[in-house]
Amino acid sequence: MFRKTYLEIDLEALQYNIAQIREKFPDYRYYFGVVKANAYGAGIHSVNAMIKAGINYIAVSSLEEALSVRKENRKIPILILEPICFEGLRIAAENGITVTVDNREYFDKMLSAGLNIRFHIKVDCGMNRFGLTDRTDVKYIVDNANDSVSLEGVFTQLSSGAGERYGKQMALFKERTSLIDLKKIKIVHIDRSLTLEQHKKIDFANGVRLGIVMYGFSKMPPEISVKRKILNKLTGKKPSEPSSLKLKNVISFYTEVLEIKRVAPGESAGYGGMFDSKSDTLIAVMPYGFADFSLIGKTQVFIGGKKRNIVVNYMDVTSAVVDGTVNIGDKVEIFGDNITPRDASRQAGVNVYKLITSVTNRVPRVYIESGNRTEVKY
Ligand SMILES: Cc1ncc(COP(=O)(O)O)c(C=O)c1O
Repeated sequence: MFRKTYLEIDLEALQYNIAQIREKFPDYRYYFGVVKANAYGAGIHSVNAMIKAGINYIAVSSLEEALSVRKENRKIPILILEPICFEGLRIAAENGITVTVDNREYFDKMLSAGLNIRFHIKVDCGMNRFGLTDRTDVKYIVDNANDSVSLEGVFTQLSSGAGERYGKQMALFKERTSLIDLKKIKIVHIDRSLTLEQHKKIDFANGVRLGIVMYGFSKMPPEISVKRKILNKLTGKKPSEPSSLKLKNVISFYTEVLEIKRVAPGESAGYGGMFDSKSDTLIAVMPYGFADFSLIGKTQVFIGGKKRNIVVNYMDVTSAVVDGTVNIGDKVEIFGDNITPRDASRQAGVNVYKLITSVTNRVPRVYIESGNRTEVKY
């Protein structure tokens, strides 16, 4: 690495998180690791560490993503969560990739194409994204699947894991699967990271899809729940239960100080004078910009034990106000232990999903495991 801007992925923390989730929620047979969007930005290279920690099925959102997982691991079952174009089915079949069926016509075409392929049925429970809505279609597909076009699972995606909306979605799922025997389906998976902790285990589900939680984000981490409790008291809202999971941060984003400039009073920095200096100011110039991190803004970075205000953003470079204690070559944390990804996402006004998937592929990923550092460029 010549340009010292990188995303660091702590594979031991990732494995710790997965092991803890499995321990706290031991009653599932299938633990899907959702690695869409290049493993939420962490990079597909993390897949084998996930498998070692107890993930026994991988889920992605496209055939391209499934094929990149297959390159990392030849055996792990992979499910594509979204329907794929018909021409892709043969490639999926050749690579042992499981597909999703969400309408009857597509299924009929699969039957007549003479494919040897495994599939899951997706049922729509109110997201209005993908999925079957008619129980006779669900029954038709279950009844007509065979050894070649073989049904392995049934699933849905919940928009909420608690309250009235959750109740409505579950009622819809039950109604839409009422003409089939769910007990005869090998894998039934409904919950994802953030809904898993919000209600009692669904008795007929034996799979769970884990995405954001593997990277250290639970629904209501204890530190947030304290603030939330105070807020709820003020607003009279019913407090949410804090998460029982104590997860470790997996993803940190670093760069280093490349240059330090002194800006005299009355001078400015950046295009069109983005920063006007009122006093004698030192600014650290760092080699990352919006082509590296699309959510970059006038937020903060952590250098030399302090949070520093960013004042200029360019495509490749960012500058922050510092003091005389900061030197060229000093490590800069964009997010990590001191400015946590949650803090950074709040500063950027987005959720953590958006934050961690906003680091572009120009930034190399550095994986830490057993003291070794492995750099991967996507
Ligand atoms: C169908 C499906 N299942 C599971 C997930 C994983 O969600 P989470 O990261 O909240 O676990 C996603 C992510 O968007 C998804 O689309």
